[in-house]
Amino acid sequence: MVVIRGATTIAADTKEEIQRAVGELLEQIVSRNSLIKGEVMSIVFSSTSDIHSYYPAKAAREAGFSSCSLFSAQEPDIEGGLKLCIRAMLFVEKDIRPSHVYLGGARVLRKDIAEKYNIAIDGPAGSGKSTVAKRLAKDLNILYLDTGAMYRACALKALQSGVDLESEEQICDLMRTLSLDIEYEGGVQKTILDGKDVSDAIRSPEVSMAASSVSKYASVRMKMVEKQREIAGRMSCVLDGRDIGTFVLPEADFKFFLTASPEVRAKRRFDELVAKGLNVDFEECKRELTRRDVQDSTRAIAPLKRADDAVEVDTSSLGIEEVIDLVKRKMQEKI
Ligand code: DC
Repeated sequence: MVVIRGATTIAADTKEEIQRAVGELLEQIVSRNSLIKGEVMSIVFSSTSDIHSYYPAKAAREAGFSSCSLFSAQEPDIEGGLKLCIRAMLFVEKDIRPSHVYLGGARVLRKDIAEKYNIAIDGPAGSGKSTVAKRLAKDLNILYLDTGAMYRACALKALQSGVDLESEEQICDLMRTLSLDIEYEGGVQKTILDGKDVSDAIRSPEVSMAASSVSKYASVRMKMVEKQREIAGRMSCVLDGRDIGTFVLPEADFKFFLTASPEVRAKRRFDELVAKGLNVDFEECKRELTRRDVQDSTRAIAPLKRADDAVEVDTSSLGIEEVIDLVKRKMQEKI
């Protein structure tokens, strides 16, 4: 006997949609495993607690699984869990290597059998990009790539070398000697510059401003973009930045553009720096953010801009859980 797993999401909690989704899931399981319906001994379904309109087991019976035992149960309401999801477990009288089937939004439940995908999250400083990107990567069990950290590392190198940030030539020369590595420790990104872990050193306000300055040069951008594309080409990941959806990965599977009011963004950045023990002034934080916004969105190459096909989310009055829920819902709708 083998056990075959499957799951799917439904677009709405209606009887017709449950019948459609269960029918499609079972059809796919049967065809991908070369089964005949009579070989299925029993099917156990569970559905998320937001599904009330119909029993998946009844839908299975109607789909022609009339000779096996069927059972449906409801799952607890787990925070951060996938919404409107039906899972199935089929017990089959056969000796085969099972092919599990995950359809619709449920594909994210099994990244190991789903194809590679990339999520682009762009937006200005303080819009909540990195918080959302980190959480998404954790929930979906995929890599998080903080592209801002890469530009910050270039800026730190420029500051340490004492070159003129406004001289494209000097910065371009410096880039030839740059050794930048992105490593992961317990799922957390470490930025290694010339062999040294600079993950904390790149977070100062001085480096933020310098990163915005050096990132306008083609020599810097092309070097960083090449690295970003290489990583994203190898594995599923969430990338956050300014130009991911427009320039780095215009074909990204999912694109989001986060915004928030300047007040809210400045407050977030201020709180973040204070929490790190830095002595900062709120008004100065706000001025720096505005200067960076202008510089990042007016540069000639790959400026900060919403991609036409990105979903815009204003996070000003939303909590992290609300943003994550919304982003996951939009992803589910798109799959
Ligand atoms: O996201 P961040 O605040 O860590 O980014 C620092 C600076 O790096 C930002 O002001 C502009 C630049 N940057 C960029 O030009 N493109 C990216 N994809 C990410 C960051």
